[in-house]
Amino acid sequence: MPIVGNIMDLPPKGVQDWVHWLKHKTLYGPISSITVLGQTFVIAQDGVCVRNGRMGRSFGPESTVAQFDSLQEVEAHRFLLRVLQDPLRLAQHIQTEAGAIILQIAYGYKIEPFKRDPLVHSANEALEHGVQAATPGTWLVDIIPICAGFKRTAEGWKKDLLSLSERPYAFVRAQVESGQYRPSYLADIFRTGVPARGSEEDEVAKWTAASLYTGGADTTVSSIECFFLAMALFPGVQQKAQEEIDRVLGPSRLPKIADRAILPYIGAIVKEVLRWHPVAPMAIPHMSTADDFWGQYFIPKGSLIMPNIW
Ligand code: HEM
Repeated sequence: MPIVGNIMDLPPKGVQDWVHWLKHKTLYGPISSITVLGQTFVIAQDGVCVRNGRMGRSFGPESTVAQFDSLQEVEAHRFLLRVLQDPLRLAQHIQTEAGAIILQIAYGYKIEPFKRDPLVHSANEALEHGVQAATPGTWLVDIIPICAGFKRTAEGWKKDLLSLSERPYAFVRAQVESGQYRPSYLADIFRTGVPARGSEEDEVAKWTAASLYTGGADTTVSSIECFFLAMALFPGVQQKAQEEIDRVLGPSRLPKIADRAILPYIGAIVKEVLRWHPVAPMAIPHMSTADDFWGQYFIPKGSLIMPNIW
């Protein structure tokens, strides 16, 4: 249509955007685009065009990840105890477990194991907002920059996010400066010297640490909740999984990360949970910073690229 372009092709209210965009694959092939009020959206929908080269970089090889095995095991066991004692608050226990693990990895911060932890609580609030802001189209302002109202909302969220990034950061800085600190992603950066306040290094250190929380806490919570949903919906699968654990580990030992290789059915369930309901079915949108080509397809600068992982 004139001026508004493909506005009618945006996902209608109440329809999941990944289900909506999949129809474009049947209609137009693995890569297609629409333009709304001059903003181009490119929808990428197969394994070739949905590349994800950046993911592995954030934490590196498995040997790097292995240093966190024992803390994950401790937190998994605390989680099981909380579920056993208070099963009705399952969702909260999942959040606490994920928060506890990420806060230790990023900041060396140990949460209150059996009480409400103030940092986990405020972080989860800030995350709730981030999820809404990361969905293009939630914000008509992506398309119409003068849209009213969003600025006030965004200002409030910005405050939450600033406090989420600042409080634990200041805590680790102070600890490293005093010479008494727990190992963490941030402490590791500070080993070569604590950067001056307000410097670029200071900002990068603060926000990369915060991005571990924002990237790692909510995603894993969603997948673990999804696991419990799957076990409730498919009790036959749950029975087979339990049978594998009992057969391989016996009746009294809890699984460790090192047991993954001898628990193939459990491993398959984990993968299936991630595949069945991917946490971010449209991943994270990216904007092209220059004119580009994918095969013979031209992708103009400023396009919003939306990979349909689902
Ligand atoms: C079920 C679990 C997870 C899923 C589905 C997931 C998904 C994603 C996706 C789709 C992106 C965007 C990649 C891109 O297109 O640029 C991303 C980026 C990222 N994730 Fe995750 N993630 C998960 C767990 C985690 C965890 C546990 C952490 C941290 C400990 C983490 C940290 C990050 C970071 C730091 C980025 C930004 C990387 C970059 O920009 O280079 N994620 N994740």
